[in-house]
Order: sequence, then C-alpha cells, then structure tokens
Amino acid sequence: MRVPIIAGNWKMHKTIPEALALVEQLKALTAAAREVEIVVCPPFTALYPVSDALKDSPISLGAQDVYWEPQGAFTGEVSPAMLTDAGCRYVIIGHSERRQLFGETDETVNKKIKAALQAGLVPIMCVGETLDEREVGETELVIARQIDGGLAGLTAAQVAGMVIAYEPVWAIGTGRTASADDANSVCDYIRRRIANMFGMENAQKLRIQYGGSVKPDNIAELMAQSEIDGALVGGASLDAVSFSKIVKFK
Ligand code: PGA
Repeated sequence: MRVPIIAGNWKMHKTIPEALALVEQLKALTAAAREVEIVVCPPFTALYPVSDALKDSPISLGAQDVYWEPQGAFTGEVSPAMLTDAGCRYVIIGHSERRQLFGETDETVNKKIKAALQAGLVPIMCVGETLDEREVGETELVIARQIDGGLAGLTAAQVAGMVIAYEPVWAIGTGRTASADDANSVCDYIRRRIANMFGMENAQKLRIQYGGSVKPDNIAELMAQSEIDGALVGGASLDAVSFSKIVKFK
C-alpha cells in the first residue's frame, strides 16, 4: 500500500523565526497523525534551522528547487548535496511557478530530477495544465509531454520511489479546486502513462499528489480517490492549524 504524503510548499514565505514558530506548532498539532508522511518545504534560508527543529520529529524536510550541477560558478544556485547537507529528504522540481516565471522546461526538470536522485533526494515532480490548455482539451497532451520529458532516461526503480504532484495551474492559489473526480482521472492518466513507460508494478508504487487550493474542507474528498496518494499544499500550509487539519484528513 502507498503511504499518503502531504507536503507543505511554503513558497517565498517565512523568515527563520517565523518558520521555527510554525514547525513548533505543527509538531504539537500533528503528533497524533498516523499513517501519513508529512513534509514541509520552507525557503532555502530556513532549511537548516527547520531541520534542526525537526530532529526529534517524524516530519520530513523538503526544498522548493535545486540545480543540477554538483558545484561551481553558478551564482544563486543550490546543489543537491547542499540540500541533503541542510537536512532535506525531498525536493520539489518543476513547480508551475518555476516553469512560468523562471523559464523551467521539461529538459531542465529532467536534469534536476537526475541530479537530485543521484544525491539521494526524493523528487516531487510537478505537472499540470493551464486553463487555456484544459479548455481546448489538451490536458492529457500537456501532462504526457511533461511526464515523458521529466522522466526521460530514469530507471524504473528510480521512478517507483518518486512523488508526482498533479497541480492544474488554474487551481493554484485561486481557490478553485479541480473536482475530486477530475483530479482523480488525471492522476489515473499519469499512472497509466508511467505504467506504459516503466511497468505497472513500478507505477503502482509511485505516489501521486494533487495540488491546487487544497484546504481542510476539501482534503477528505480528494484523499478518498483511488489514484490520489496525498497533497501538495501552498497557502493552507502557512497556517499550522489548517495544515494539521489537512494532515489529519481521516
Ligand atoms: P495553493 O498552492 O495550495 O496555494 O493553491 C499549491 C502549490 O502551488 O503547490
């Protein structure tokens, strides 16, 4: 059985003291959560202090991006080994904000995933269509391109251990959630596509999250879907009470 995984993507929010206050509250509020993996993804500056604060906690740490080179003259970038050094186990790769605002492509996503895996990180690869793409009926086409490009050249075992986040761009930060049925059918499409590429057994191991305006009042319905194994949560992860309610979705 796939263990559900709920991750909070803090985006560009929280100073170090604010981040520490949030994780202290989260530790207390989620202490009773069972059979769910909890991940927080603070900004780079707060990774190490948060890692230290999570030492005695089952909550895992993730970063929001990574560069593919191991070191060198790449001003402003952070390597996979620097993330593991700071205590990260996960890294979000290819978030739609990175694709739309910072020129991320399927090719750069692929390079980042390979480098992250090599360093022992678990990539959370984001895919999703824009509203225009959905309206002209291109959702599956876009997802297929992102999946094929992002996972190119990986081994089946590598893919089986990854997490994919299906995040329709029109549902991110807008308050509009995909219906649980629609979200499930795209997640099902993702799993079938991966089964064709890497075999059904591996596709069944991979965890697929839904992301886009996930809140305490819609998480239960999303998690009840057969192909949805968790959530990538933006806005609602910045508040300990709402994130802990999402984590305790059962
Ligand atoms: P949201 O963001 O929950 O604020 O819609 C989700 C995300 O971008 O990962």
